[in-house]
Amino acid sequence: MKVLVIGAGGREHVLAHKLKQSPLVTKIFAIPGNDAMTEVAQVHTHIAETDHEQIVTFAKQNDIEWVVIGPEQPLTEGLADKLQEEDIKVFGPNKAAAQIEGSKLFAKQLMEKYEIPTAEYKEITNKQHALAYIESCEYPVVLKKDGLAAGKGVIIATTYDEAVAGVEELYPEEQGVVVFEQFLEGEEFSLMTFVNGDYAVPFDCIAQDHKRAFDNDLGPNTGGMGAYCPVPHIDQTILQRTNDEIAQPIAKAMLAEGYSFFGVLYIGAIITAEGPKVIEFNARFGDPEAQVLLTRMESDLMQHILDLEAKQPIAFQWKAQSVVGVMLASKGYPANYEKGKAVSGFNLDGNYFVSGLKKEEDTYVTSGGRVILALGEGSDIASAKAKVYEAVEQIKSDALFYRKDISDKAIR
Ligand code: AMP
Ligand code: GLY
Repeated sequence: MKVLVIGAGGREHVLAHKLKQSPLVTKIFAIPGNDAMTEVAQVHTHIAETDHEQIVTFAKQNDIEWVVIGPEQPLTEGLADKLQEEDIKVFGPNKAAAQIEGSKLFAKQLMEKYEIPTAEYKEITNKQHALAYIESCEYPVVLKKDGLAAGKGVIIATTYDEAVAGVEELYPEEQGVVVFEQFLEGEEFSLMTFVNGDYAVPFDCIAQDHKRAFDNDLGPNTGGMGAYCPVPHIDQTILQRTNDEIAQPIAKAMLAEGYSFFGVLYIGAIITAEGPKVIEFNARFGDPEAQVLLTRMESDLMQHILDLEAKQPIAFQWKAQSVVGVMLASKGYPANYEKGKAVSGFNLDGNYFVSGLKKEEDTYVTSGGRVILALGEGSDIASAKAKVYEAVEQIKSDALFYRKDISDKAIR
């Protein structure tokens, strides 16, 4: 069958790479894809991810059987609905169900109603009320703008002054929706869960992301600076509780409220003294979690999608090896950074996945904040870490930075 992958980042690069290995798949297309994906897919960078009409036309003209949507924006904007109207199968939720990621408030209200463990919260829809609230709330307090923000709409304020600055930033006008959340302490992990209505199958391998820009979890939040899997120090009991208390109930809750989710639900969880609680839901694979998880996955992703569609058991198989991925990002990211800087030294045979590079004549130059993820595999996390930093050293560029402590939580 022919499969079309939507999106242009490293997650979509690994999705195309992984799907290509499936004996069920004859050809992969990518819209818009990126120049580094041409080894695994027919890439159409001239079609925008936002041009739903052209994507539907393309899918019909090319006899696409399945469309796999990588990023959140086309999901929350209803691309899946448009394709399904034309009887094209889509892996990725429709617009209504994608609100679980698109609106923090939607997700919080659902969790509250169905008693799914998460931080306590208060929604405030007006700047003056927010300023009054932070005079007496507990600190630290977490401010989250409603709506998509590429991992950057979250402010953790430890003092009143920081909260004032946060309010100024998240309410550019008098009115606006911001969720104020209790600060939770603990270790975070990412659990991808296949969901079809109330049928929910969590991956039996979790990953851990590194959201902050700099070593030791310092600096601003980013889309993710590196990830690894499995996570040996987070035990089976936690995973079982996350399944029982979060994954199964949220799938049932969505269906009970009339939302039919089909795709992968990303559960961003934190291990508190009371057990795992939800930090966020995403309606898609994590990036860079997908790069490490799909590299470790030995079983057939396309077969898993078909089994999910049929609500059949999903038989994951994983390599024995651990996988560590380190993101190289443009200096200045997640704030301002320059583009058009040359990057070389990497290969495209599964050791690197490209997020923000494009080809100019014969050289790759940067075109985004997160640029390229290097991967390392090893018999345990420590040896995978040693390997990945060897792969990082191969990359030649003076325009990039990266964290040096990816996966250390599993090693210490
Ligand atoms: P989000 O975009 O909701 O995933 O938030 C980005 C990051 O902010 C998370 O990965 C956490 O590290 C942190 N964060 C978000 N909400 C909370 C919370 N309630 N307590 C502690 N940290 C949080
Ligand atoms: N790596 C976090 C995310 O994809 O949202």
